[in-house]
Amino acid sequence: MAAKTIDTGVRTGNPTPETACNFQARTLNFRPSMSDKQKPLILTGAKPSGELTLGNYLGAIKNWAVMLDQYECFFPIVDLHAITVRYVPAELRRRTYQCLAQYIACGLDPEKSHIFLQSHVTGHTELSWILSCLTPVGDLHRMTQFKEKAAKPGASVNAGLLFYPVLMAADILLYNADRVPVGEDQKQHLELARNIAQRFNQTYSETFNIPEPFISKAGARVMSLQDPEKKMSKSDENPGEAILLLDSPKEIRKKILSAVTDSGREVRMAEDKPGIGNLLNIFSAVTDRSIEELEKEFAESGYGEFKNALADALIAKLEPFQERYRRLIEDKTYMHRVLKEGTEVAQARACKTLSKVYRKAGFIERLR
Ligand code: TRP
Repeated sequence: MAAKTIDTGVRTGNPTPETACNFQARTLNFRPSMSDKQKPLILTGAKPSGELTLGNYLGAIKNWAVMLDQYECFFPIVDLHAITVRYVPAELRRRTYQCLAQYIACGLDPEKSHIFLQSHVTGHTELSWILSCLTPVGDLHRMTQFKEKAAKPGASVNAGLLFYPVLMAADILLYNADRVPVGEDQKQHLELARNIAQRFNQTYSETFNIPEPFISKAGARVMSLQDPEKKMSKSDENPGEAILLLDSPKEIRKKILSAVTDSGREVRMAEDKPGIGNLLNIFSAVTDRSIEELEKEFAESGYGEFKNALADALIAKLEPFQERYRRLIEDKTYMHRVLKEGTEVAQARACKTLSKVYRKAGFIERLR
């Protein structure tokens, strides 16, 4: 009789949950507290690209920080994703620490969330292999981000770049995340992750939650200072486009003063004033004051006065952040402790999912 190749989900043995990871037994003592169990699980990853921009903070991280009490939060720094493009190993290491220190300095409290490195948890790459065997290669070729990155002159179009979204799906599904805060540019990847999860559930049996995107109402959309039609992002060719969280007061003022504005001289929100509109949005997000209030205050001022006031507000806002950052980046012992604790929780969760997945996919239980 021919052997059945697909496990229908019917249990034959009595595998312990840690089967797939029994070599990591040390980390398996973690049991989520009742309160954690009842909270929905949020997960979002960021590549360790080193310097975060004001856009990253106001549009994303600031909002994650207010979710800490309501949700169980997982914040992997996705270092494995960082090597899909050309990179320098020593830089990656430095940037990973920088990213961690900036996260914490921004208010992601490690006591209330799980911050860890993707490369420290066994399971992300293993799960991504299983998922890749359920992903049509055509789906990956259709991803907008892949097409854009592959089209860059001199790009190395490696298989990892193509498989990037499968690894991202694994990041999410490994923890059975309920919600995933993502920006516009990652929606397509999240949709793919949902499709992959559904395909796994249909092929084997109900295993994964179908993760929902988490679009926060509060997030400010921060645009480039040089081209307000474009999202603010770090650009090597034109550093004036973005305020970096670690910019000095002098740099901040210079960038704000040379931000493009519009014709006319009134400080107000209007269709034909995307430059001033962007600066008003930033001002409002940084000071928690309403646009109307700011329009009133600067009704009689010209652009110069308005921009100087914005620079003052930004410098004041970033100063305590930078102070915290400088202390953290010097304190490797503390950073390692944060990572170790985050990894322990993440690894325990990952092992559970992975052993379930292996079992359902028909692998024989690991022998001890
Ligand atoms: N691809 C995401 C980005 O470039 C980063 C990422 C990796 C991610 N894994 C994730 C985001 C899981 C959310 C959930 O921004």
